[in-house]
Amino acid sequence: MPDLSGKHGLIVGVANKRSISWAIAQAAAAAGARLALTYPSERLEENVRDLAAKLDNPVVAACDVASDQQIADLASTLDREFGGLDFFVHGAAFAPSDALAHPFVQTPRESFRIALDVSAYSLVGLTRAVAPLMEKRGGGSVLTLTFLGSERVFPNYNVMGVAKAALESSVRYLAADLGPQNIRVNAISAGPIKTLAAAGISGFSSILQVYRDRAPLRRNVDLAEVADAAVFLLSSASRAVTGEVLMVDAGFHIGSGIPNP
Ligand SMILES: NC(=O)c1ccc[n+]([C@@H]2O[C@H](COP(=O)([O-])OP(=O)(O)OC[C@H]3O[C@@H](n4cnc5c(N)ncnc54)[C@H](O)[C@@H]3O)[C@@H](O)[C@H]2O)c1
Repeated sequence: MPDLSGKHGLIVGVANKRSISWAIAQAAAAAGARLALTYPSERLEENVRDLAAKLDNPVVAACDVASDQQIADLASTLDREFGGLDFFVHGAAFAPSDALAHPFVQTPRESFRIALDVSAYSLVGLTRAVAPLMEKRGGGSVLTLTFLGSERVFPNYNVMGVAKAALESSVRYLAADLGPQNIRVNAISAGPIKTLAAAGISGFSSILQVYRDRAPLRRNVDLAEVADAAVFLLSSASRAVTGEVLMVDAGFHIGSGIPNP
């Protein structure tokens, strides 16, 4: 396992113990990192504080990623507590239910705006805020989480697919901007995993089944497998990798296993 000892990291996107971001937090902590976790609202604060209590000397701070003020306050807190930042995991995503429950063509303008703001723009706003902290450390690693619905149509994924396409493109533009500062920006495209966010996609269990049937490895992926890949991308083991979308999906994306007509 790559070493993150002496490193400080920010993890945005922990809601509960099934969150992919929580799996990454646990793996990064096991690799030696000290972490800051955020919560988006008072409703989730207790959950996040309970989980953070399992970590060594964590920082817990509020951050609704739709708020520029909260992003700025978070960056100040990190500067004060850590004096810089080595990595940032972005695991925030949201789409209003009216954009997931009807055909994509019916997506309301406001729901489209919210989904793209929370799920894609937030990577840009947060990365801009933490980049100066990473520069203090001579560079850093930014990692976000995406899904194959950015490129292919999955039933009911709808506006989240559009948001993930914007997110993956943002990874490439951010990587180009920040590479000269030795700040790397990558994404993991995870296979489907039952989480709170996934529960918002109706018919999600049939997506799980299709992966099980057709992925080269003939199974789904688990949280620990995504977290292990994340620790690689956060660590110096991946120091020459940037602008990349790493598929951690049991190989599903290669398209094998689709029956011939
Ligand atoms: N579960 C899957 O099958 C799967 C597959 C590929 C990618 N992903 C992506 O992984 C990431 C994490 O999702 P998850 O599946 O672990 O579900 P999750 O529900 O545990 O995590 C989503 C997080 O987004 C946060 N969030 C929503 N609105 C926010 C806001 N305004 N401000 C701050 N945080 C906000 C939620 O609090 C939650 O912690 C998401 O980007 C998701 O799209 C999930």
